[in-house]
Amino acid sequence: MVTTQELMQMALGLVEMQDIPGDSAIYHPGENIRKVLFGIDISTAELAMAKQLGFDAVIAHHPPQTSAIPAWQVYLRHIDFLVQAGVPREAAEAAVKPRAEAMAAAYQSANHEHYSSIARLLDMPFLNIHCPLDELGRRIMQKTVDDCLAVNSQATLGDVVEALNALPEFAEAHTQIQIAMGEAEAPAGRVVVAHGALTNGGYAVANAYFTHGIPTVLYIHIPYSDLQRLRAEKKGQLIVTGHISSDLVGINPFVQKMRAAGLEVTTISGIR
Ligand SMILES: [Fe+2]
Ligand SMILES: [Fe+2]
Repeated sequence: MVTTQELMQMALGLVEMQDIPGDSAIYHPGENIRKVLFGIDISTAELAMAKQLGFDAVIAHHPPQTSAIPAWQVYLRHIDFLVQAGVPREAAEAAVKPRAEAMAAAYQSANHEHYSSIARLLDMPFLNIHCPLDELGRRIMQKTVDDCLAVNSQATLGDVVEALNALPEFAEAHTQIQIAMGEAEAPAGRVVVAHGALTNGGYAVANAYFTHGIPTVLYIHIPYSDLQRLRAEKKGQLIVTGHISSDLVGINPFVQKMRAAGLEVTTISGIR
């Protein structure tokens, strides 16, 4: 039996995070939890369903309403990742801050208690855990890529994709890992896995990596219009791994951790 706070702590502990990040929240707290329903996307309908089916708590991966919590704070992590990769701070901030500001503006207009009020009325404990699990997925994918390049510094984009495909989440995916920009036979060079910062950095973040000496960026997804703009400029190479399979790289270890702790976890909405 655990509390919603302990469920959150379990996820934070996977990546040594101290505080709940802005894109994750407990909407309705609860205790004595044993039967958990866990899905990538949860709406109020699934909360009502969970009540009917006798679950003790519901966990979502994605924020149920991104604008209703300060999720934009997590988008700023792109600045840290860019700086760690050697991009000057000023350029990193210029690539990230405008979109974060737009997200912060949306927060001003959101109905912040929509989900918490419904979960409270149903008395269905409800939380969402986003960044901690994506950060775990980022670390696993970055290590997979780095290990591939450590064995062979001349590894090609095709070799990097093959190494990633060895992860079970990609082997079983509906989507295929795509070399969205570049040739399979071309050396990958340095690869930055740009994941775990709320959402992909679109044109601006990839462009900042490319223009500051990082030849290959990995996104889990990208808007098509941003991809077309990057393609037109031909400044670098881009691997797109697929949204849900990439999310599962960080989600599956958390499911295993909950089950190891004696919880009965039922998975829906993209989680197997
Ligand atoms: Fe996601
Ligand atoms: Fe995710």
